[in-house]
Amino acid sequence: MQALPWLDRFSLYLAPMAGVTDAVFRVLCREQGADVTETEFVSAEGVLQAWGRTKRYVQLPGGDRPVGVQLFGTHPKHMAQAARIIVDAVHPDFIDINSGCPVPKVVGRNGGAALLRELPLLEEVARAIVSELRSDCPVSAKIRLGWSAQHICALEACQRLEDAGIRAITIHGRTRTQQYGGKADWEAIHHCASCVNIPIIGNGDITTPQDVLRERDVGVVAGVMIGRAAMHSPWLFCRSKQLLATGKLPPEPCAADRVRFMLKHVQLTLTQGLYGDEACTLRAMRTRILAYAKGIPGSKKLRPSLARVSSMEELRTLTEQMLD
Ligand SMILES: Cc1cc2nc3c(=O)[nH]c(=O)nc-3n(C[C@H](O)[C@H](O)[C@H](O)COP(=O)(O)O)c2cc1C
Repeated sequence: MQALPWLDRFSLYLAPMAGVTDAVFRVLCREQGADVTETEFVSAEGVLQAWGRTKRYVQLPGGDRPVGVQLFGTHPKHMAQAARIIVDAVHPDFIDINSGCPVPKVVGRNGGAALLRELPLLEEVARAIVSELRSDCPVSAKIRLGWSAQHICALEACQRLEDAGIRAITIHGRTRTQQYGGKADWEAIHHCASCVNIPIIGNGDITTPQDVLRERDVGVVAGVMIGRAAMHSPWLFCRSKQLLATGKLPPEPCAADRVRFMLKHVQLTLTQGLYGDEACTLRAMRTRILAYAKGIPGSKKLRPSLARVSSMEELRTLTEQMLD
């Protein structure tokens, strides 16, 4: 099986995150050095029944390559049909099967992490998509270690997915029951990676360039995927790359640089109209603004105002006060 070209070298993935990894944020992370990005998950049923509304989640701007579109669902035929529609419409570099999402809305419909309780079905979904797309587009999957500590199944899932023709697998080193609690189990990720012949991307709690260096030096996974840390520190990608390349740890950006990045992110999102008018955009981005502000000296007393910000002008004034 042909290797995925971006995995020729140790790759830094931006994790798919619903409500976070929209086209603007993916491009910004790419500028910071992310090698591979993914859209947030899209529902296969949504693609089939309401493509007009769903397609805004799979906009792939030119500068954002290689990029995957992540699909969730449970019905093999519907997943394959949805993958075909997406591939023909937006030509992603890969389709990713979501088999890790823990939220009740998704697992309640047997999608996401629920597929880990039914590995034959997960395999069937993978086979259906691979056979529909053939050589048109590679297929990857994202899994967790299992449903719970009593039901760890990542290795069997990886083996079944490999047999089904999946080309790479991301493993988040937690179970569904853990959600985001506890610590990601990297030993379990390494164990799976050393037992299969396709690339494994490790995911969970990568928060510093040193974490990235550790995994590159361990040399078992083909890359790492970064989620929550990228939300408040997208420069983690470039700092990590510099550490990998030179062995020297670059400094964190200063408060003024963090603010500049925040304003650029909000302004670009506004310009592209992803969330509607100015007030809607600012409302949609409040948690993001608070995430950037965290750690800036002087931001603490402004948090209540940042949590209510509703215009660009107000945001600029608040950031000036923050830097004062
Ligand atoms: C706000 C948010 C949304 C997420 N949405 C998705 C998603 O759409 N698809 C997915 O596979 N994982 C999703 N995840 C999980 C992340 O991709 C990632 O696996 C998880 O955050 C662990 O990585 P981290 O420790 O680097 O954050 C989401 C996580 C967060 C925090």
